[in-house]
Amino acid sequence: YAQDKKWKIGFSQVTTIEPWRAQFNKDILAEAAKHPEVELIITDGEDKTEKQVADVENLIRQEVDALLVSPKESAGLTGVVQQAIDAKIPVFVLDRNVDTKDYTQFVGGDNALIGRAAGEYAVELLGGKGKAAGNVVEIWGGMGTQPAHDRHDGFHEFTDKEPGIKYLLDQQSGDWKQDQAYNLMANALKSNEKIDLVYGHNDPMAYGAYLAAKDVGREKDIKFIGIDGLPNEGVQMVNKGELTATFTYVTPGAEGLRQAIKFLNGEKVEKTITLPTEKITKENAAKVLKDNGL
Ligand code: FRU
Repeated sequence: YAQDKKWKIGFSQVTTIEPWRAQFNKDILAEAAKHPEVELIITDGEDKTEKQVADVENLIRQEVDALLVSPKESAGLTGVVQQAIDAKIPVFVLDRNVDTKDYTQFVGGDNALIGRAAGEYAVELLGGKGKAAGNVVEIWGGMGTQPAHDRHDGFHEFTDKEPGIKYLLDQQSGDWKQDQAYNLMANALKSNEKIDLVYGHNDPMAYGAYLAAKDVGREKDIKFIGIDGLPNEGVQMVNKGELTATFTYVTPGAEGLRQAIKFLNGEKVEKTITLPTEKITKENAAKVLKDNGL
């Protein structure tokens, strides 16, 4: 059946259970459907570094023409990505990076920019520049990932200038998961009578924190900021008033595959493609939902 298939492209996805990952795979499959000359093989790392390393090794053995990879974490995936590069397979790193720049291209959002936008908005919500005050809970994504560090650094560029802002958790990671964020927040609520704002490094974690607050009747006292802004997830939560804001983080599925095909067809591609972001609040959430047919 593969006779009309000119290119075999492998995509190593870290996990498929998180909503953003499901959307990512949907996006890449929709793009693949437009290219009958492409055979796309998607693997599921089941959110484990060892499994994802084995997946990439497997794709290398299958002699894919190009490898797309969205890593669980940077350090653990760097070796096997280097292996693909050494095997002369063009590598497209998507969303989370690895500790080498020898790949063909990186496609993803600008997490430092998103972090800054979130920090600027947090300052506004807490009283404005020079006057902002309040207790902030930050729930980190995976510690071994660049997006979590960039989302942290960007945020603090704004909030650290405000002496009135206090931080209640010290580098606590929810590993991008709603249930882990729920537990962190439940503990924070127990030990702190006053929490004013939660910054979750993604929407599932911001929502987990919201649920923990709701379970003790304190959700109305707290602002919740997340990141991802999927129409059927974060945007809905903002529209319902559960989250105060989210910042869209477009999946690199469609663009990543287009770029790989472009490269395989002999065209030049840029080293980095940066995907755009948008702030979603109660003001524009309904319109965004409508634009997405929801
Ligand atoms: C999904 C996810 C997203 C987040 C991205 C960061 O696995 O956690 O929610 O924006 O990964 O790499």
